[in-house]
Amino acid sequence: MKPLLRFFTRFLRHKRQLLAGFACIPLAQLADIGITVVIGTALDRLQKGEPADFLPGLFGIILGLSLCKGLFRYLQRWWIVAVSRYVEIELKQELFDKLVSLPLSFHVKSRSGDVVSRVTSDVENIRMFLGPGVMYTLGAVVMVPASIALLFTHNATLALTMLLPLGLMALGMKFFTPRLHTWSEAVQESIADLSARAQENFSGIRVVKGYGREQEQARRFEAASARNRANQVELGRARGLTHALTHAANDSTFVVILVIGGWAMIDRDLPAGQLFQFIDLTFKVFWPLIALGWIAGMYPRALASARRIEELLNERNPVQDPLEPRPAQPVRGEWELSSLSYTYPGAARPAFQGVSVRVRAGGSLGIVGPTGAGKTTLLLCLCRMLEAQGEARLDGVAIPRWKLRELRAALGYVPQDSFLFSDTWRANVEFGADAPLGEERIRELAHLCAMDGELAGFPDGIETRIGERGVTLSGGQRQRTAIARALARDPRVLVLDDALSAVDTETEARLLATIQGQSAHRTVILAAHRLSSVQRADQILVLGRDGRVEAQGTHAELLAQPGWYRETWQRQQAQSELARL
Ligand SMILES: Nc1ncnc2c1ncn2[C@@H]1O[C@H](COP(=O)(O)OP(=O)(O)OP(=O)(O)O)[C@@H](O)[C@H]1O
Ligand SMILES: [Mg+2]
Repeated sequence: MKPLLRFFTRFLRHKRQLLAGFACIPLAQLADIGITVVIGTALDRLQKGEPADFLPGLFGIILGLSLCKGLFRYLQRWWIVAVSRYVEIELKQELFDKLVSLPLSFHVKSRSGDVVSRVTSDVENIRMFLGPGVMYTLGAVVMVPASIALLFTHNATLALTMLLPLGLMALGMKFFTPRLHTWSEAVQESIADLSARAQENFSGIRVVKGYGREQEQARRFEAASARNRANQVELGRARGLTHALTHAANDSTFVVILVIGGWAMIDRDLPAGQLFQFIDLTFKVFWPLIALGWIAGMYPRALASARRIEELLNERNPVQDPLEPRPAQPVRGEWELSSLSYTYPGAARPAFQGVSVRVRAGGSLGIVGPTGAGKTTLLLCLCRMLEAQGEARLDGVAIPRWKLRELRAALGYVPQDSFLFSDTWRANVEFGADAPLGEERIRELAHLCAMDGELAGFPDGIETRIGERGVTLSGGQRQRTAIARALARDPRVLVLDDALSAVDTETEARLLATIQGQSAHRTVILAAHRLSSVQRADQILVLGRDGRVEAQGTHAELLAQPGWYRETWQRQQAQSELARL
């Protein structure tokens, strides 16, 4: 219960609305009971043969009570549900902030789809339980004892006989509600599975078609659909049974009252008005009890959700700003790495290790090696997206002593997958800058990354939407856009992770020349598979398959010694010559 109570304190942040909503609950319920009592007594008075001239006044009272009931019900929902929605929005925002702030190592170990769906459905579970759930519970807390007390004051025997079917119904609910929840969860899971399958197949449509796997994938989808159908049918069955049970219990209560009450009425010791009150009050006890059953069924899920969300909120972020940050001053871009290494959590060996190298301000460092050698990991450590062991200094200051904002502002990072948002080309480039860029600067960036020709051919030029709802960019165009995004912040250090692999060698050479040549003060660190990308670098680091540094030096030095670099260079040269023929 404790975690849920802690979440309830979030509701208390909106104290006034919440309390106003709570205050409306008894008012609405009492007005409801009032109507029954007023009508019942009126019936009794009429039965006794009193003149009917009190009726117009009575209608007025009933109308007033009905208005009160309607108004307070409306207000109670309005305030309490609104507060629950506020809490939901705040919580989702807090979780989003937390998730974006958590380091890469967190996202690496948890699947992003899982996190998102878990967060949304967990928040909904908590909201339902603490918002509408608490509201219905409070309603029942007022309605049930008040109605039962009234029933007993009227006729204790009848009240007791009526409790029997009610008790049976409560027992039945206790039995059926867990089944209902189990099946509704199964249905939710199978729907999530279906949409994940559909989504994956459509985003990977090229692979599906390329391998001629349409029918096979369709059959898998069919199987998932069949599972979903089976779950839906079971849920329907459980729902049907629950409905049948509650309605049967309801009707049998009614039968008991009619039979016993009818007899009593015929024997003249139960006035008609009281019988009416009995019937009506029984209904009023009945539905809140069913709601209570539902809420009790929601409790375990809400509790589990609260625990999970709390765990996420308490997730510690090891990447923090230093207590004594480096004094603010212009960044030069000089790197010094000594015995740097990184091991992924749970991995048997370091992704890369023993990297020691100096890069002067405005200089360049190439990182090469076979696939899986740790190039990407090394670059992530330089951006402090992963916390490396050993020491990396930028401008003589250890990376952890940099304020994160300053460090990231100094770096222009182009990831290997050159991820772009579904937005305009311009917005994607401006993403890298801290402020909107002028038309001229955008055009300059387009020119710098050799995209101007292609952009001119796009329907809306730089304002063309790219991605899902727009133009699909080629691999090379994506890469150059990602570079433009990195250049948009005019970084002192440009970090390129195999960011030119999809452009032809000529464009690559031109791009590298402009990137470096345009501003000699910019340090460039680039990982690459194609060795021609790094041949002009001041220094090249060759990582081996096991993540160790195999060799280090300039292009000429590395070519002079036997090893992976020379072999790969010769093979790639031969390939490009063949391609030219
Ligand atoms: N999130 C991760 N969790 C665990 N191990 C990982 C993770 N990411 C990468 N690795 C492992 O770390 C090693 C280095 O990976 P990395 O991506 O840095 O290689 P790379 O040199 O960039 O490869 P490529 O040339 O294919 O881009 C690989 O063995 C890889 O399997
Ligand atoms: Mg890589």
